[in-house]
Amino acid sequence: MSSAIDRIAEWAAQAQRGVAFTGAGISTESGIPDFRGPNGFWKRNDAAKFTFQNYVADPEHRKERWRQAVEGRSFMRSDVRPNAGHTALANLERAGAIRGVITQNIDGLHQESGSTKVLELHGTAKKIGCLDCGERWPAPVILERVVAGEDDPRCTYCGGILKSATISFGQQLPEDVVEEAHRWSLDADFFLVVGSSLVVSPANGFPIVAKRRGAKLAIVNREPTDLDDIFDEVIHDDAGPTLTAIVERLEALSPRRPL
Ligand code: APR
Ligand code: ZN
Repeated sequence: MSSAIDRIAEWAAQAQRGVAFTGAGISTESGIPDFRGPNGFWKRNDAAKFTFQNYVADPEHRKERWRQAVEGRSFMRSDVRPNAGHTALANLERAGAIRGVITQNIDGLHQESGSTKVLELHGTAKKIGCLDCGERWPAPVILERVVAGEDDPRCTYCGGILKSATISFGQQLPEDVVEEAHRWSLDADFFLVVGSSLVVSPANGFPIVAKRRGAKLAIVNREPTDLDDIFDEVIHDDAGPTLTAIVERLEALSPRRPL
């Protein structure tokens, strides 16, 4: 009797246009909290405050965000490393089982683990930009200014408000990235979701698009999601060990796809 891991590995072995789709759950094994799991970020912070409009209008909220960033209480952390889950997805790309990763994450760990095609729907915490003139810096350059005592750092060119290059609630998603993710989903024959509660749109629409086009759908997520019943295989377990087992099975199935 083949297991769910065997079946997902078989779909990966046959896939010509596979896609991985990830959320914060793939990074918790690197020490970054997710948002809605038992120790999620929204369990300790009021999500309603974290809107783009509030960030621009309320200097005290902005100062709290900068404090969280330098105290490692947010997602702009430089001390985290990719985990086995990220590595497994990079290996699936190398094996040709997926064309790349559509991610809601902003931590840059997919790229750091070797994934070469990553669509960042919600931007990146690796850069910090000016909301007025658009100038951008690597995040550490600005975080050093906060550590040195600037509690609300401004653009050195125009004095504008600075913000991490992430997409906050109320902010427009990058159109080109969303369009590319939509094309990948329309074209997918295998769609693997890892570590997402699938509650935030439009991101949570991509698995549905792939399903409608006949793709084989699999999800690896610790907790059930409201979309579980559209998936052909559902594994409620940790991403790292589960994805590693899928890659090992894939290697046994199709040595033609050297990693
Ligand atoms: N392995 C597998 N699943 C995990 C793991 C793990 N190691 N750790 C957590 N999970 C699961 C949780 O059970 C949860 O269902 O990952 C899911 C993460 O869901 P969310 O915290 O809602 O994160 P995500 O789906 O990425 O949120 C989407 O919401 O707040 C916004 O912009 C933010 O990009 C984020 C978006
Ligand atoms: Zn500026």
